[in-house]
Amino acid sequence: MTFTIAIDGPAAAGKGTLSRRIAEVYGFHHLDTGLTYRATAKALLDAGLPLDDETIAEKVALDLELAGLDRAVLAKHEVGEAASKLAVMPAVRRALVKAQRSFADREPGTVLDGRDIGTVVCPDAAVKLYVTASADVRARRRYDEMIAAGESADYESVFEDVKKRDERDMGRIDSPLKPAADAHLLDTSKMGIEAAFQAAKSIIDVALKR
Ligand code: C5P
Repeated sequence: MTFTIAIDGPAAAGKGTLSRRIAEVYGFHHLDTGLTYRATAKALLDAGLPLDDETIAEKVALDLELAGLDRAVLAKHEVGEAASKLAVMPAVRRALVKAQRSFADREPGTVLDGRDIGTVVCPDAAVKLYVTASADVRARRRYDEMIAAGESADYESVFEDVKKRDERDMGRIDSPLKPAADAHLLDTSKMGIEAAFQAAKSIIDVALKR
């Protein structure tokens, strides 16, 4: 049986960096599930298709290939915004969750990060982490990333977007963002990536010995 690590949390909490590091250290496959929503959104935007038609969005989600998802291509702010609109559609979620579950079965182990991994996609994951940070810290990180990527950004509007994205992710009816009952909470507001990794590593090592 494979060993699955589920990592959830709001946008820009640091779960992507943490997930990649964990996957690299343990030699596990990694899927950033946000990219599946982003790729679906970008395919619709590129084809000039509407973002509010569930049947069309479901069809695009069903055709999605997991190989070749690239954060650099999908990073744009408007793609993330469009993704979070599609993420409220049950048919889109069903299609993407099916692909995510088949990825989670890969040997010897997998790390999946997103919003509903511990609660919906992999409820039996061996380890569940819920990575969070204050909205202000997350907006600051997002802002710094956008500036570093050469995008123009205004801190106040990034902060408003982070709060709006949280509301949409936490408030939706289907698979809202919330910690699983058995998730370990990691607040990265005042913790660097190295400290967060060490905390995660202690939890994972205990589970691997079981
Ligand atoms: O994490 P990222 O910003 O790339 O995700 C984009 C959007 O995709 C999120 O705002 C969220 O609405 C949606 N998403 C989701 N469930 C996941 C991963 C992402 O609903 N497991």
